[in-house]
Amino acid sequence: MSEKPTVLVGRKLPDAVEARLSRDYNAILNPDDKLYSADELIELSHQADAILPCHSEHFTAEVIEKLSDRVKVIANFSVGYDHVDTEAAKKKGIIVTNTPDVLSDATAEIAILLMLAAARRASEGERLVRSAGWKDWSPSFMVGTQVTGKRFGVIGMGRVGRVAAERARGFDMDIHYYNRSRLGPDLEKGATFHENVDDLLAKSDVLSIHCPATPDTKGLINAEKIALLPDGAIVVNTSRGAVVDDDALIAALKSGKLAAAGLDVFNGEPADIHPGYRTLDNVFLLPHIGSATMETRDGMGFRALDNLDAVFAGKEPKDRVA
Ligand code: 8YV
Repeated sequence: MSEKPTVLVGRKLPDAVEARLSRDYNAILNPDDKLYSADELIELSHQADAILPCHSEHFTAEVIEKLSDRVKVIANFSVGYDHVDTEAAKKKGIIVTNTPDVLSDATAEIAILLMLAAARRASEGERLVRSAGWKDWSPSFMVGTQVTGKRFGVIGMGRVGRVAAERARGFDMDIHYYNRSRLGPDLEKGATFHENVDDLLAKSDVLSIHCPATPDTKGLINAEKIALLPDGAIVVNTSRGAVVDDDALIAALKSGKLAAAGLDVFNGEPADIHPGYRTLDNVFLLPHIGSATMETRDGMGFRALDNLDAVFAGKEPKDRVA
C-alpha cells in the first residue's frame, strides 16, 4: 500500500502539474475533465486525504459537512475561494488554501483587454467585419471612447488591481482606488486613495473591479452606485460576477449612462448568465479566461501543490485562507 497521501483532483490540470502530482501523491486525476456533481465529490472524498478543486466545484456548507473526515485540506487551483464555505471548512477542521500572485499578470492583461475592447467598440466592429456587414466608412463611423489620460478607478487594490493599475499607467491614466485599507507609498505609486466606494465612483472614467465576492461586495455595483459614475463611464469586471447587479448594469448600458462594459465574469456563469448581455452591442464579453495562459495555469497548479506539500509536511501552508 502506498504511503503517499491521496489527492482528489477536480479537473484536468496542465501536464507538468499532473506529473508533479503523480510523482509526489497518489493522484485521483480527472483525464476526461468531467465536472463532478456534489454527490460525486462527496463519494470520491472517501478515498482522499486532500482535494485540489477549481472554482467550478462548489463546496457549500452542506457538501463540506458530508465530506469524508479523511480530507485534511482543500487546496484550490484559484485565487478566488467564494466557491468554498470557509466557515464550514473551519468547523470541520479542513484547511483551505488558494493561489494568489501567480495569476495577477494574466488577469490584469484581460482587464486591459476588456477596457480597450469596450472603449473602442471591439465587439461591434469585429462582428461587422465577420458578417460582411462592413460596407462604408465615415468620420462618425464606430467612434468610441479614448482612454488615454482618463481616470482608472480600481475597487480592490490587491495584487491584480495593482498590476492592472500599473498597466493603465502605460496609457497615461490617472489611478484612483478604493481598498479596505490605504496602501503604503511604495505600492500606491501616486494613486489617489478614496476612503469610500462612492467617492471612487465619482472619479472613475473607467471602473475596474478587483475585489473578491463576499457577502459585503455582493451586488455592490447596483443602480445607486452606477448613478455615481461619470456619464459615459466604462465598467470592467475580471473579479466575480456576484459583485455586479446585472439588471442595473444592463439598464445603464441601454440608457447610455454607461458607454460600455467589458466582462470576463458573470452571475450564473457559464450557462445561465443574464440573457440581456447577449444582445447588447456595447458590452465586450469573455468566458472567464482571466488566468487562462499556459504560464499561469502551470503557476497556479504548482502553487496549489506547494500548499499541499506544506500541509503534508506538517507546516503552515503559505496561502492558507481558512
Ligand atoms: C480561474 C479565477 O480560472 O483564480 C480565480 O479565482 O477566477 C480564475 O482565474 C479559476 O478560478 C480556476 O479555478
